[in-house]
Amino acid sequence: MAASGEPRRQWQEEVVAVVVVGSCMTDLVSLTSRLPKTGETIHGHKFFIGFGGKGANQCVQAARLGAMTSMVCKVGKDSFGNDYIENLKQNDISTEFTYQTKDAATGTASIIVNNEVKTLFNPAPAIADLDPRFYTLSDVFCCNESEAEILTGLTVGSAADAGEAALVLLKRGCQVVIITLGAEGCVVLSQTEPEPKHIPTEKVKAVDTTGAGDSFVGALAFYLAYYPDLSLEDMLKRSNFIAAVSVQAAGTQSSYPYKKDLPLTLF
Ligand SMILES: Nc1ncnc2c1ncn2[C@@H]1O[C@H](COP(=O)(O)OP(=O)(O)OP(=O)(O)O)[C@@H](O)[C@H]1O
Ligand SMILES: *[C@@H]1O[C@H](CO)[C@@H](O)[C@H](O)[C@H]1NC(C)=O
Repeated sequence: MAASGEPRRQWQEEVVAVVVVGSCMTDLVSLTSRLPKTGETIHGHKFFIGFGGKGANQCVQAARLGAMTSMVCKVGKDSFGNDYIENLKQNDISTEFTYQTKDAATGTASIIVNNEVKTLFNPAPAIADLDPRFYTLSDVFCCNESEAEILTGLTVGSAADAGEAALVLLKRGCQVVIITLGAEGCVVLSQTEPEPKHIPTEKVKAVDTTGAGDSFVGALAFYLAYYPDLSLEDMLKRSNFIAAVSVQAAGTQSSYPYKKDLPLTLF
């Protein structure tokens, strides 16, 4: 508490540890027995609205693990935008830098910055001619198999392939490269340990893997910000575990676990 007479503290500046720059998207989900043909109207049996967008997903996962987070993005000046801001607040995410605009909300890449020092970059969706500065400015560069293929031109179908692609990305100037491999976990290498290391994950019964990558990246941002002394391998094992929890329930943000639902050994 500030003593009277002292200027009020800007808590965001003081305590926010994970800042996510990225997209907030409203998912309009219709469940149908098949896709309609062009111009065709078909019956759906269920409809729901979900909160998505890769940046916001990652931010929500980090916040649910206990990170003080801030979401930097623009949403529309409409009811979806209002609802999205409410969703961020419900997840205890600072919306000080969440803006509303009359233009459509767009977002192609998300960058997570841990105040001034660490930059975690997730090139999603990937483009082959990514600005080279994204590599040199990334402390941690994290992508999935298909993104690694687009960025390197190599085929990535195994942990060994991922190791080779990661080395190509590392040589472009990142400090650490992580390639996620779905049920196979991930592969990591770094300037200090350029030998690729495969970090496998738990065998679980996957119900819905949508958003697993964002759960993983959000968890990793949490560990980088709050447990900087953990080894990278330890952070990745824990992020694998959290993402594996998220694939065991339906939906994107709706499947992301809270700290209270996770084993204490993760914290
Ligand atoms: N079937 C699974 N079983 C256990 N863990 C999984 C499974 N699928 C994904 N994961 C976890 O989630 C992480 C990210 O998965 P993946 O590589 O599929 O990312 P992604 O393709 O970006 O995901 P998505 O696009 O579906 O959100 C993996 O590294 C792993 O930790
Ligand atoms: C990787 O992520 C992209 C989103 O950028 C997604 O479209 C693609 O399906 C994912 N690839 C895999 C192998 O899951």
